[in-house]
Amino acid sequence: MQDLTPQQIVRRLDEHIVGQAAAKRAVAVALRNRWRWQRLPDDLRTEITPKNIIMIGPTGVGKTEITRRLATLTGAPFVKVEATKYTEVGYVGRDVESMIRDLVEAAIQLIRQQRRSELMPQVEQRVEQRLVELLAAGGETGPADGEAEARRERVRDRLREMLRRGEMEDREVELRVEQRQTPVQMFPNMGMEQMDVGFQNLFEKVMPRQHAQRRMPVREARRVLQDQEFEAQLDKAALADEALRLAERQGIIFLDELDKVCGSEGGKQADVSREGVQRDLLPIVEGTTVQTRYGLISTNHILFIAAGAFHRSRPSDLMPELQGRFPIRVELQDLTRDDFLRILTEPTSALTRQYAELLAVDGVQLEFHPDGLAAIADLAWQVNQSTQNIGARRLHTLLERLLEEASYAAPDSGQKHVAVDAAYVAHHLAEAVKTDDLSKFIL
Ligand SMILES: Nc1ncnc2c1ncn2[C@@H]1O[C@H](COP(=O)(O)OP(=O)(O)OP(=O)(O)O)[C@@H](O)[C@H]1O
Ligand SMILES: [Mg+2]
Repeated sequence: MQDLTPQQIVRRLDEHIVGQAAAKRAVAVALRNRWRWQRLPDDLRTEITPKNIIMIGPTGVGKTEITRRLATLTGAPFVKVEATKYTEVGYVGRDVESMIRDLVEAAIQLIRQQRRSELMPQVEQRVEQRLVELLAAGGETGPADGEAEARRERVRDRLREMLRRGEMEDREVELRVEQRQTPVQMFPNMGMEQMDVGFQNLFEKVMPRQHAQRRMPVREARRVLQDQEFEAQLDKAALADEALRLAERQGIIFLDELDKVCGSEGGKQADVSREGVQRDLLPIVEGTTVQTRYGLISTNHILFIAAGAFHRSRPSDLMPELQGRFPIRVELQDLTRDDFLRILTEPTSALTRQYAELLAVDGVQLEFHPDGLAAIADLAWQVNQSTQNIGARRLHTLLERLLEEASYAAPDSGQKHVAVDAAYVAHHLAEAVKTDDLSKFIL
């Protein structure tokens, strides 16, 4: 984990998210507190559990985005789940634990990637050797006397040089590849997460591994061999241990739509299942031990960031025990017209930049003028006010429509330059807005 200070974290978040200072501060502090916590003596460490956060705010104002960026910023394993998912028919208590299993999977992926880049030099060396042998196979096979052996060695040397010069990429070789059989194919109606962990493990052991000889060009074989060599050199037991520890100490779970499991609207039946979800969530958030296919994991120190609009309900409608586990509440603000203007241009991967880069690939220069940007922000705000307020997502729908024609015309029209100014926006969007044909944007 990078040791960023709270202020550094906020600055990094600022590169992607406009405004929402309170929420950024809260997550930055939570993250730094974990770093501080890891440096405490053992006896103290077990006493302190993370302060989980509830982000309260309307749709499309950056709740998910802040959490997602936070996770990538620190390289922490991260999963996002919708609390409402567990109210669906067919879910039973234990399934709530599947979020912890997903977190461990995310940790496994992170560490595998890390291992892969560490092991790559060794792996590449082995792969080259194997490619040389595959290329040399089918060549001369005489008695193994000294002279023949020396000749074969010379052939290998020559092949290796050609390989290094990239001259053998299209040459075909034959190798053994494993054909993966997944249980999912056999039980098409059954999701993996619904399958018992023990059963899943057993299944993988019982299924025969099938191999097949396949011919393929060197360029493709190299990738297959890299995977094979990597798997062979990877210490699976150490990987599992490390992933469990990483998930335990640095994992972040984003629990979206928490408000939807604490409402009181709807029938009695719905209430029961919502409360059920809260009850199932509680032990996980409070700290329990969950069985995963890689081993046991304690959820004591996983950081939970919950989010919800909380229009019809308040966090105080949650079960008291659950409220206690989410002591930090931050409100996200409704986005203003000025925020929209900034969101259009300021984030590192701002929407306007995305479109400009896409069209640049087709040799079209897309240029946004200040009056054009202002017009887009204005419109987005207006449409949000007069129809449904979907926050910054409105910018996505507006821009897509605004640039639909330019995106379609390139590159066949031969037009090399598109200037998006106020007139362009008026021409492409204002009509629809003026004629009250707003349904198009709501869709
Ligand atoms: N403050 C912001 N700055 C920059 N981009 C933003 C901001 N708020 C939202 N966006 C953009 O709008 C989109 C939706 O945001 P996000 O997914 O964070 O919404 P949300 O608050 O989680 O909404 P919901 O409650 O519906 O899940 C994202 O593409 C995000 O990049
Ligand atoms: Mg969201």
